[in-house]
Amino acid sequence: MTNDLIRRSDSDGIALLTLANPPVNALSLAVRQRLAALTAELEADESVRAVVLAAEGRVFVGGADIAEFDRPPEAPHLPDVIAAIEASRKPWIAALNGAALGGGAELALGCHYRIFADTARLGLPETSLGLIPGAGGTQRLPRRIGLAPAIEVITAGRTLSAAEAREAGLADRIAAGELIPEALAFARTLDGALPLPASAAPLADPGPAFWDEARARIARAARGNPAPAAALEAIRAGVAEGFAAGLRAERETFLRLRASDEAAALRHLFFAERAALRPAALRGIEPVPLTRAGVIGGGTMGSGIAAALAAAGLEVRLTETGPESLAAGLERVEAIFEAQVKRGLTDRAGAAERMARVTGTVGLGALADCDLVIEAVFEDLAVKRRVFEELVRLCGPEAILATNTSYLDPERIVEGLPHPHRFIALHFFSPAQVMKLLEIVPLAATAPRTLATGVALAARLGKIPVQAGNGEGFIGNRILKRYRAEAEALLLAGATPTEIDEAMRAFGLGMGPFEMQDMAGLDIAFRAREAARALGQDLPEGPGDRLVRAGRLGRKSGGGWYDYAPGSRLPQPSPEAAALIAPLVTPGPRPSGTEIADRLIAAMAEEGQRICDEGLAQSPSDIDLVEVHGYGFPRHKGGPMFHAARKTRSRTGGA
Ligand code: NAI
Repeated sequence: MTNDLIRRSDSDGIALLTLANPPVNALSLAVRQRLAALTAELEADESVRAVVLAAEGRVFVGGADIAEFDRPPEAPHLPDVIAAIEASRKPWIAALNGAALGGGAELALGCHYRIFADTARLGLPETSLGLIPGAGGTQRLPRRIGLAPAIEVITAGRTLSAAEAREAGLADRIAAGELIPEALAFARTLDGALPLPASAAPLADPGPAFWDEARARIARAARGNPAPAAALEAIRAGVAEGFAAGLRAERETFLRLRASDEAAALRHLFFAERAALRPAALRGIEPVPLTRAGVIGGGTMGSGIAAALAAAGLEVRLTETGPESLAAGLERVEAIFEAQVKRGLTDRAGAAERMARVTGTVGLGALADCDLVIEAVFEDLAVKRRVFEELVRLCGPEAILATNTSYLDPERIVEGLPHPHRFIALHFFSPAQVMKLLEIVPLAATAPRTLATGVALAARLGKIPVQAGNGEGFIGNRILKRYRAEAEALLLAGATPTEIDEAMRAFGLGMGPFEMQDMAGLDIAFRAREAARALGQDLPEGPGDRLVRAGRLGRKSGGGWYDYAPGSRLPQPSPEAAALIAPLVTPGPRPSGTEIADRLIAAMAEEGQRICDEGLAQSPSDIDLVEVHGYGFPRHKGGPMFHAARKTRSRTGGA
């Protein structure tokens, strides 16, 4: 019932409003209607001296109801509701029990006072959804905390902790004990005089140099998302022309962006990520609680996986084949934590704590009491099989045993071994401590609980789990193979690696296909092709084969598709590579950059559709998550499936 969305209870002339719209108290149309009606009612009620606005649950207000964004906005609009609260003759006190995000932060900013529970937070994440704050956030926040800090919070979509809010002057106090009684007690101390509302606070214009610098900095960080720059302009409009004009500019931009392709793409990913983290099929299935995890192999992947696990608070046992390779593996882990300190992701003490959670051992003996073991040894069926044969002897039948294989069939790795319900493939992406994607591949006998543990692990590591069927290359590497084949086809039609890579960077990928192969090494795919040839597959000699046979394995050998100066990562066009490829090229009409990108993305989407049709992915949006979180596909384009569907619709003129 609508009236239950906000409950009112009065005592001593203080009205306590409690928002209850689970799960995150989103400001849906019904909530706005009720809030607008209550604001008018309280204003007219002479028995009320002050209003405390509180909320139920763990979140104050998570934001607007995003599901409403695909429809035209309906009155009462949030900016008007907030304006009415700010204009009230009686003080409104926002009591923040938890996160106040987006519209929730704007609502709190419109109140005259804010009291934070010590775990409460306030933030404006709209730009990460391709939007800008649309209910006064770009105007009130700078007037409350100052221009530069507000620009940082809004354009980076940052969230302030209670302590930061207090320091910034945004929290009038942080509750020492129970929030609501303290907020009510605070309300009783107020004598009727109202503080200056945010809308009336002066804000000086720091001048054109300030704005130019901010524009340049924000454009660099935005990677093609137009929202941060648009937010900056709304802030600037308010500084240059005053609060009312700023609000108008903000609302106009908000409505324009709300209808944009980028915002639709980011919304699509928001919902896709939410669904991936809470798969409907696993509802009610308890994951295995994890405290101790084993990682076998301290190479590229094992060291990254160990670092990710330790950073998430797990106790990690890293095992290698001998003391030297173990020392090298532990050094890799340590180097990861050092890099995290340099990037400000943790501090020295944090890095030391993480490292202290990692113990190195030679041999698998120390893994006997692990709840989870992830194998990341050489990509060799016999080696992996031996590892699993030993593991099932060592570990209890409930320990979850996972392989990180890229291309081997995980069924063959564990074939015939006991307690098959606990085997699973957990496919991380390189660098494993950074990339957010985790492909989770259940085998025929994998128990739902094992699968649920994989999903819970991903969430704990801050990663996005995508369930994939057990087909060669799972989802990501199968699309990658198709993408590379298409890139090679373009190459053989006369486009250069530089042209192709540049086209993909212009589209928004961090890297093009050829520089990416040079980084990862050309030898892995080469060996896979050679293995297929040995099994009798008829694979014609391609340009990649020619490069590898000439010793060009990528960056690590000084060159692959490109040349690299010693110690440099900068790809230089390579006359040697061009000469090796030349005999295979049949030059035709040269495709433009846009045509190159269109062809490559279309190939990805086509392969993605095939994977869905074969039942190896659960939905097209899972394909999008794989590409965005595993392969650097630009978020604001939503992923290849979303992008391709949008393109088809706009070509056919559909809605
Ligand atoms: P790597 O060659 O860097 O590391 C493998 C490590 O395993 C080596 O340090 C080796 O000493 C160790 N090792 C071998 N046999 C062992 C045993 N019996 N016990 C303990 N340690 C042993 O290889 P990388 O790149 O880390 O790959 C590992 C696995 O991860 C492979 O299955 C690969 O396909 C997969 N993978 C690789 C990705 C990549 O981008 N490199 C991405 C995703 C998966």
